[in-house]
Amino acid sequence: MGDEELEFVKEAFATNWIAPLGPHVDAFEKEVAEFVGIPHAAALSSGTAALHLALRMLAIEPGDEVICATQTFSASANPIVYERGVPVFIDSEASSWNLDPERLREALADGAKRGKLPRAVIAVDLYGQCADYDPILAACAEFDVPLIEDAAEALGATYRGRMAGTFGKCAVFSFNGNKIITTSGGGMLVSRDRALIERAHFLATQARDPAPHYQHSSIGFNYRLSNVLAGIGRGQLRVLPHRIAARKANFEFYKNAFRDLPGIEFMPIADYGKPNFWLTCILIEPEIFGATREDARLALERENIEARPVWKPLHLQPVFAECRIFGGNVSEEIFEKGLCLPSGSNLTRDDLERAAGIIRDLHAQAQR
Ligand SMILES: Cc1ncc(COP(=O)(O)O)c(C=O)c1O
Repeated sequence: MGDEELEFVKEAFATNWIAPLGPHVDAFEKEVAEFVGIPHAAALSSGTAALHLALRMLAIEPGDEVICATQTFSASANPIVYERGVPVFIDSEASSWNLDPERLREALADGAKRGKLPRAVIAVDLYGQCADYDPILAACAEFDVPLIEDAAEALGATYRGRMAGTFGKCAVFSFNGNKIITTSGGGMLVSRDRALIERAHFLATQARDPAPHYQHSSIGFNYRLSNVLAGIGRGQLRVLPHRIAARKANFEFYKNAFRDLPGIEFMPIADYGKPNFWLTCILIEPEIFGATREDARLALERENIEARPVWKPLHLQPVFAECRIFGGNVSEEIFEKGLCLPSGSNLTRDDLERAAGIIRDLHAQAQR
C-alpha cells in the first residue's frame, strides 16, 4: 500500500458509504478510464467477473466456440465455460509469449470453413506485456469476430504508444492481491461502448429493472466492487508509476545478475511496446545451464523463496483436455523451461541478491 489508500478508506467510513456503490466506486471508474484513455469503465468484484460479463453480453449459445490464448491463468477461459461455450486455444508466439496472430488467423479461417466462427477472441497481455494487436485486430476484423482483451496483468503497459485495455470491444483489468496494484480483490471492465458498460453495471447489480419494487427481466449477478475497496484502488492508482518502476528495476537487476550465465533467456520484450514488468520470467535451457527449471525452483524453495513455473498452458490442463488447440509446441516449451522469479514491488536489493545468488550457485555447482 502507498500513503493515500487509508485516507480514502477512512473517508468511506466517515461518510458511511460501506456498500457496493458510492463515490469512491464512481471516482475509481473515472480515474482508471482516464489513466487508460478510454471513456467508460465498470468497477467489479474481480477480473473474472469482468470477463464473465463481457462474454454474457455477447449472448453465447451453448456449444458456441470462443478462442482464447493458451498460455494464461485459467480465469481467462473459465468464463467461457460458465456461459456453456467451448474454448478453442491458440499457441503463443516465441517473440512475446502471447497469442500467436498467425495461429489465430488459421483458427478463424478454419471456423469460417466449417461455418462455425467463434463468438469472440480473448487475447491476454501476458505477465504485463501486450499481445501483438495490429495483426490480431486485422484477423478479427477480417472474420468479423469481436476481440476481448484480458489485460488483467497489464495495467500501465503500452502497445505502439496505446495503453493496454484499449484494444478490442472491451477489456478487463484485475486488482487481485498479486497484481501490480490491488484492491485485495477487484476488477474492471472498460470499453469505448457506453451501452456495453451501462449493461455491465446493470447485470453486475442483480439486473434490477427500473421500478420502485424489485423487478427483474434478466438474470443478474452480484459483481460490483465495494466502495471501501474502490477507495484502496484510488490510492493504488496514484502509486502505479512507482510500482511499474520497481518491477522494471527487478527485471533489470536480474538481467544484469544473469548476464554471463549461459542457458538463461528472459521473456522477450517485443519492440512494439512497453510492458509494466509485472513478473520477471526466464527460460532455463537445462543442457546449457546445467540444471532444470524445476531444480531452480526447488533450490529457491529450500531457502524459503517462492518462485513458480510460468502458466501451464490451458490445453494441457485436465479440465480443458477435450478442447482444441492450434499449435501448442511453443507454449509447451515455455512451460517446461519457464520460471517466474520473485518480482514483488517491495523486494529489497538484498532479497534480489539472495534469489539471484541461488540461481548462480546452481549453475556453478553444475560446472564442478
Ligand atoms: C490473465 C488473467 N486473467 C484473469 C484473471 C482473473 O482476475 P481476478 O483474480 O481478479 O478474478 C487473472 C488473475 O487472477 C489473470 O492473471
